[in-house]
Formats: sequence, structure tokens, C-alpha cells
Amino acid sequence: MDSGRFFRGIARITGGFSPSLSVRAFMRVLLSAADLAAGIERLAAEVRREAGDTPLVVVGVLTGSIVIVADLIRRLDGPVRVSMAWASSYRGTATEPGTLRLHLDLLPDLTGQDVLVVDDIFDTGRTMEAIVAALKQRGAATVRSLVLLRKQGRGEVAIEPDFVGFEIPDVFVVGYGLDFDGTLRQLDHVAALDEADIAAVRASKPPLGVP
Ligand code: IMP
Ligand code: MG
Repeated sequence: MDSGRFFRGIARITGGFSPSLSVRAFMRVLLSAADLAAGIERLAAEVRREAGDTPLVVVGVLTGSIVIVADLIRRLDGPVRVSMAWASSYRGTATEPGTLRLHLDLLPDLTGQDVLVVDDIFDTGRTMEAIVAALKQRGAATVRSLVLLRKQGRGEVAIEPDFVGFEIPDVFVVGYGLDFDGTLRQLDHVAALDEADIAAVRASKPPLGVP
């Protein structure tokens, strides 16, 4: 994208904020929209290679997985049903996870089903570990896990995701569904926020991404 279009895009998203703040918070593009599209295509092929034509119940983890799920299910050939679970680590403006809460009330009966849990990122792995365990307990025949991103050197659990789109360094990322304090999910790329970006977003009122 040419820089003029980029900066006009930022101005549109952040309307009313100082250009230096807006640009700062968006500068480090880690994965472009094209990178992400290729990654989703590859993930979908890997899932079908492994699962064959088996009907899959895709369980997206709200809210970060909404964009990934929407793109992935349109690439997954074969029978698919979609449902959602909700998990929150209460991050707010913190960038470290807090207490994990799960809400599984939206899920259908999963007895005997082949489930694919889809989340945005595998950081400590605690969210995925808890959801996979809960779905197995609900009688799913198989539970596979897919994440768009995995942060290196952060894992705190014994499980590994079955499918990983991209390995990324230990940085805080936003966009393509991932948020900072509820904002910036709408970016079509994944960007890294450094400490100064985070301080700038924390200081902005109303928060970035909410015109
Ligand atoms: P985990 O339980 O530590 O693996 O964290 C997983 C959840 O934390 C993800 O579903 C995300 O919602 C959130 N998370 C972890 N790292 C980031 C990040 O860099 N940006 C935004 N959200 C993140
Ligand atoms: Mg999440």
C-alpha cells in the first residue's frame, strides 16, 4: 500500500487523534493482509489433509477469533458447522493475562462430534488448554486446536496447538481480530505495539479505533 493511502486510512480509523499518535500505534506491520490470506489458505488445507471429509464443528473463541473464523470457514471444503465459545483473560489495558473466564452456553451438543477450536493467538496457552479440556468433557469425539498466531517462548502448558498459522516473537499484537483494550480488532493486518505505542493508546480518550 502506498504511504498516502496508509495515512489516509489511519486518519479515517482514528479520526480526531493527533497524526503522530495514530501513526505510531500502527507503524510496525508484522503480517500484511496478503500474508494473512495465504496463512488462512494454508491452515484450511492442513486441516482438511488431517481431518479428511469428516464433518467438523468449528468452535471459535470469542472475541478475537471472529475474523479468522469468517475467513477460515470459507476456505474449509467439506461439511462444517460453526459455533462460538467465549473466553476472557480480563486484559483491559494490561498486556498480561489475568483470571480466565469461560462461557460455553452457546455451544450445541458436541457428543461424538469432531471439533476444531479456533483462537487468535496461543500465548501462555491457558485459554486453549481450558477450552480443549472443557469440550472433551462434553463428549466430543476429537478436539483439535488451531491458532492464527503462536508467541514464542511464552507457553506455560503441556498442550501444543495442532495447527499454527504463524510463529511470532514475544510482542503485543493487534488487528485481524486481536485487540488492545477492545480496540483495533478491525485492522486488516497484524501490527505489533511497542511500549511507547501502548502508553500512547492508554493515554488516548476515547480509545483508538472508536471514532
Ligand atoms: P493465553 O491464554 O495466554 O494463551 O492467551 C490467549 C488470549 O489472550 C488470546 O485469546 C487473546 O485474546 C489474548 N492475547 C494474548 N496475547 C495477545 C496479544 O498480543 N494481543 C492481543 N491479545 C492477546
Ligand atoms: Mg482471545
